[in-house]
Amino acid sequence: MNPSTAHVRIDLGERSYDIAIGAGLIDDASAWQGLPQAAAALIVTNDTVAPLYLARLQASLAPHYRVVHVCSLPDGESYKTWDSLNQIFDVLLGKACDRKTVLFALGGGVIGDITGFAAACYMRGVPFVQVPTTLLAQVDSSVGGKTAINHPIGKNMIGAFYQPERVVCDLGTLQTLPPRELSAGLAEVIKYGPIADMAFLDWIEQHMDDLLARNPQALAYAVKRSCEIKAWVVGQDEREAGIRAILNFGHTFGHAIEAGLGFGVWLHGEAVGCGMVMAAHLSQRLGWVDAAFVQRLTALIAKAGLPVTGPALGAEVYLHHMRVDKKAEAGGIRFVLIDPPGSAVVRAAPDAMVAEVVEACCRA
Ligand code: NAD
Ligand code: GLY
Repeated sequence: MNPSTAHVRIDLGERSYDIAIGAGLIDDASAWQGLPQAAAALIVTNDTVAPLYLARLQASLAPHYRVVHVCSLPDGESYKTWDSLNQIFDVLLGKACDRKTVLFALGGGVIGDITGFAAACYMRGVPFVQVPTTLLAQVDSSVGGKTAINHPIGKNMIGAFYQPERVVCDLGTLQTLPPRELSAGLAEVIKYGPIADMAFLDWIEQHMDDLLARNPQALAYAVKRSCEIKAWVVGQDEREAGIRAILNFGHTFGHAIEAGLGFGVWLHGEAVGCGMVMAAHLSQRLGWVDAAFVQRLTALIAKAGLPVTGPALGAEVYLHHMRVDKKAEAGGIRFVLIDPPGSAVVRAAPDAMVAEVVEACCRA
C-alpha cells in the first residue's frame, strides 16, 4: 500500500480490524492482502456506483480470487430491503459460493449495511470487507459492525452486529460524490467534535472551506480523525450497552425529522445536522452548554450546507416519532446531550422542554 495511506485500528479482541485511508486504494491489489483465503469473492454495489468504480475494484481483486462475482442493486434507501438481501443470496447460492467466500461492499451506507447483514446471515457468517464510497460511510457507517435492512414499520430494525475483516476508504471516490451527499457526510464528521474532541471541532471550523472544496489533505484528516474517535468509542462498547450511544448525537431529533417527513425527503445526514442544533438547544436549556456554543455549532452546520431549521411538523409529531427511536426505553425518550462541550451524556428530558425546543428550532 502507498506509504501515505493512514491506518486506524478497531480494537475488539479477535474481531479487531484495520481501517485503511488513502487515495487510489481501490486500484491497489495490496489493499486486499492478508484477507481470509477464498476461491471466490462477491462485490455488492449499486447501479450508480458500479459504472464509476466496479471495473477498478474487479481488476485489483483479480490477483486474489479465482472468480469475482457481482451483485448490483438498484440505488436508494428504499432498496434496503429483504428483496435486495435475497438478490445477494440468489447470486451466492446460484454461483455455489462456499462459506469462505468474501463479500465486498462497494458503495455508501446503504450498500455497506445490507452487504454486512448478508455476510452475517449467509451460511451463518462469511467474511466481508467494507469499501465505502461516501463520506458518511467512510466516517461512520462502514466502521463498527452495525448492519441492517429496513422494515416498512421502521428503519434499520432488522440487523445484526457483525464486524468486517477490513475497511478500505479510497478518498478519491469522494471526488464524484454529489454536493448534497458531501454535506450529509460532513454532519457526521462535525458530530465527533461536540461529543468527544473540541480540538477537532476547532480544526473543522478552520478547514470547512477546504472540506467543501474536497481538498485531499483535508478530507484525509477528517476521515482519519473521525475513524479514530469512532474506534475509541466502539472499542469500549461494541454492542451499544452504554457509551456507544453518544455516536447518536442529533439522531433522536433527526430520526423524527426523517420519519415525520417520510424517509428520503431529507438525507440522513441533513436530519442529523439539524438534529444536532436541536440537541444543542436542549443541552442549553438544561444548563449544560451556553448560548455561544449553540451559536457556534449552528453556524458550522449551516456552513457545511446543512439545514439548521427543522420542518414545522408540530411538537407532537416529533415526540411521537422520538418515542419509537431505538434509544427509547419503556416509552421514555432518551437524548444524547452535550455536557460539557467535548463530552456527551444520554439522558431523558421533560416532554414540555423538548416541545419548546422543537417549536424554537422549526420553520413556521
Ligand atoms: P447511500 O448509501 O444512499 O449513498 C448516497 C448516494 O450516493 C447514493 O445515491 C449512492 O449511490 C451515491 N454514491 C455513493 N458513492 C458515490 C460516489 N463515490 N460517487 C457518486 N455517488 C456515490 O447513503 P449514505 O449516506 O452513504 O448512507 C446512508 C445509510 O447508512 C442509511 O441507510 C443509514 O441508515 C446507514 N447508516 C448506517 C450506520 C451504521 O453504523 N451502520 C451509520 C450511519 C448511517
Ligand atoms: N452510527 C452509530 C453507531 O455506529 O453506533
